[in-house]
Amino acid sequence: MVDEFDTVAWWTAAAVAELGDDHALPAACRGSGSPAALDWLARSMGLEPGVRLLDSGAGVGGPAEYAARNHEARPTLAEPMEGACRAARRLFGRPVAVADGLALPFPDEAFDAAWSLGVLCTIDDKRAYLEELRRAVVPGGAVGLLVYTRAVESLPDQPEGNSFPTRAELLDDLRATGLDVVEETLLADVPGTPDDWEQAATEVEDVVRRDHQDDERWQRAQSQQETIVGLIRDELVVGVLVSCRRGDSAATR
Ligand SMILES: C[S@@+](CC[C@H](N)C(=O)[O-])C[C@H]1O[C@@H](n2cnc3c(N)ncnc32)[C@H](O)[C@@H]1O
Repeated sequence: MVDEFDTVAWWTAAAVAELGDDHALPAACRGSGSPAALDWLARSMGLEPGVRLLDSGAGVGGPAEYAARNHEARPTLAEPMEGACRAARRLFGRPVAVADGLALPFPDEAFDAAWSLGVLCTIDDKRAYLEELRRAVVPGGAVGLLVYTRAVESLPDQPEGNSFPTRAELLDDLRATGLDVVEETLLADVPGTPDDWEQAATEVEDVVRRDHQDDERWQRAQSQQETIVGLIRDELVVGVLVSCRRGDSAATR
């Protein structure tokens, strides 16, 4: 995971510096679904101008920046990989904490809303992770997730560092942590990434490949990414967008 989420993240920021700022948002959102998926979450979560939004596992900061530019949210990023934090800071200049989502360095109820995109499947103790998100938002606050779920009993290829929950396990974990589901949809049911974004993100990836393809860290990250893309293409792993609210009931685990 370090290769993909730390080293390559930093290389991505360097590639954007070469290609221009218009490449930053598409490249930094690559891991997280389309702008339409982010809009779906923002609408369902009720993100309003000025909302204090935590992005846990923020990666290179694309989704948080998208929320700031398109929904006037005030994002704070938390992300355990230092290279990704440095990249996010360099690309967008928003507040970033190097932090594990299992132990967020924020007081209780510090945010109006939180989202976490493509992160839960990298966490073993999913309930502890969800409890931290719940703790960080005000009562009734919105919590949005993009979760890659396992649609079959066992996967032919398990990418390192990932443990995909089934949809039923996800719903159990949300219930147990006092996060009430408001709405959910399949990622495949919202419009995909527009061609100009795809093009810009691909150009960034091409520069990273040109400069680092002989580096075994790039090769490991590439192989990891190909495995996940294959699982999604074959519908063995399915992206789900879930919009929740912090409920009244305390966590019961
Ligand atoms: C697929 S990437 C998604 C990044 C970003 N959310 C996006 O949508 O572009 C998964 C992210 O989860 C982060 N991550 C892994 N373990 C984590 C943890 N314990 N707490 C918070 N984030 C974590 C990784 O470092 C990586 O940045």
